[in-house]
Amino acid sequence: WILLNVRHYCKKKTASTLRVSEALSATEFGEHVKVRGWVRSVRPQKANLFLHVNDGSSLQSLQVFADAQLNDSLLTFGSAVEVTGVLKKSPHHKQSVELEADKIHVVGKCNPLDFPFKIKERHGLEYIRQFPHLRCRTNAFSSLLRIRSEATAAIHSYFKENGFVHIHTPIITSNDCEGAGELFQVEPSWPKTEEQENFFSVPAFLTVSGQLHLEVMSGAFSRVYTFGPTFRAENSQSRRHLAEFYMVEAELSFTQSIEDLTQVMEDMFRSATEHVLAHCAEDVDLFHKHVTPGHRGTLDSMMKKKFPMITYSEAIDILNHSTQKFVFPTNWGCDLQTEHEKYLVKHCGNIPVFVTDYPYDLKPFYARDNQDRPRHTAAAVDLLVPGVGELCGGSLREERLDLLSARLEKVGLEDTYSWYLDLRRFGSVPHGGFGLGFERFLQCILGVDNIKDVIPFARFSHSCVL
Ligand code: 4AD
Repeated sequence: WILLNVRHYCKKKTASTLRVSEALSATEFGEHVKVRGWVRSVRPQKANLFLHVNDGSSLQSLQVFADAQLNDSLLTFGSAVEVTGVLKKSPHHKQSVELEADKIHVVGKCNPLDFPFKIKERHGLEYIRQFPHLRCRTNAFSSLLRIRSEATAAIHSYFKENGFVHIHTPIITSNDCEGAGELFQVEPSWPKTEEQENFFSVPAFLTVSGQLHLEVMSGAFSRVYTFGPTFRAENSQSRRHLAEFYMVEAELSFTQSIEDLTQVMEDMFRSATEHVLAHCAEDVDLFHKHVTPGHRGTLDSMMKKKFPMITYSEAIDILNHSTQKFVFPTNWGCDLQTEHEKYLVKHCGNIPVFVTDYPYDLKPFYARDNQDRPRHTAAAVDLLVPGVGELCGGSLREERLDLLSARLEKVGLEDTYSWYLDLRRFGSVPHGGFGLGFERFLQCILGVDNIKDVIPFARFSHSCVL
């Protein structure tokens, strides 16, 4: 009996550890708890000491107050602490809960003079980008990462709810799906031996797209998707290109028309955006109010209207009737450049717009031939969005064996893609799919200008720190 009571007593005395978000939403007070995190502010005031502690679980920090005697010279902005105390209902209107500390332990000190972020200062995205190993400690970047995590979950939920099977497509592959030659080759780090000239016996690369592997799977599961890293050796420092980015790709069998794809693209865009707005409201507000002011209105109007659809030929007409001078040519057959895409989005009311039926010769070998003449087009579609330009690229795939093998033969790839031709030999069906650049999606909903600010660790030419 004594032992039981001692155990009970000890159990009661041990403070339970709470995340800051849990502490902030507490409705019962008086409990003895422990909170761990990083100091966002320290304010000694007469006989008291006030701290704000954040552990990344929410944008809000937990206010801690203590007797000034608990102050310590190591207790600075950026230091890591473990605080034990009693949760109380706060008398202040800005927060509902605060922690009255009886113990503050500095777990890791932080010299505020050397720390690149300063207390109470709002640092711009460009400034914090210089510190890829520390920027997650700022409000803006930690909000971004919570939004990114929630958007990832939203996209997976969308596909799950709509009957798609998630496929892990390979990172290492021997195909160049897009045929653009922007491949990173994969080789072992050890020197080549005479017996093993090439590890995989064929040249192998980091994937530029999981599409061809999804096409394999759509031939058995009808609706499949993948969401993973893709790699492009694009020698670009642009605000919308990375060497490593995340792509959401879907593939659907038994498609009737390009609208089967645009419907999924638009539904997924809306569903993921609504989820983020509902589940990360505070984080999104921080962006829309302080980081990219004015963007909320643009996002709201995107969500209100159905995305319009124009053909590539109509897009060329619009560009040619514009008074704006473009750097790149706008004659039929030209690839649309970012400046063209942004103009088209503005022209359509600054909301996302689908552009369909691109010149056949602009699209990779897998795109379905519309067999129209004299303006020969492919059943391909891009989704262009405000501030970014191209967000999604997709197409119906050429399911007809004779047309596909003729095209592959023309470019000398018939042998390389013999397995792909097999898919057209054994139960081929009309199908199609698309890829959405996940970082561009985040740029679009948050209004972030530079893609390097929406990924935890940005990789681009001449930059692979950490
Ligand atoms: O238009 P892309 O090249 O399409 C494909 O790769 C298809 N195989 C996808 C499919 O049909 N399954 O790329 C799709 C999207 C683009 O619209 C863009 O948003 C994004 O991927 N993207 C990039 N994002 C960041 N950095 C880069 N270098 C990107 N290249 C493409």
